[in-house]
Amino acid sequence: MTTDRPTGWASVTACPHGPLLVRGDVEILLPDGTPAPRRRRTVALCRCGASGIKPYCDGSHKVVGFRTDDEVA
Ligand code: FES
Repeated sequence: MTTDRPTGWASVTACPHGPLLVRGDVEILLPDGTPAPRRRRTVALCRCGASGIKPYCDGSHKVVGFRTDDEVA
């Protein structure tokens, strides 16, 4: 994978049974519209609802047994 991405490039990857990996130039906003603190270019957003550091994933999806049905056949 190349690291030479154009400005403004971003991607979101849905991890099976886990978070959404967000890479690139994306501003993540909290429900009140303020920007979520972000120190890394790639972040994992919780989609199981169990994280203690929402909107980010803290690995709790494994503890709660979060399952998705989006596995590629
Ligand atoms: S997806 Fe990881 S804690 Fe929710």
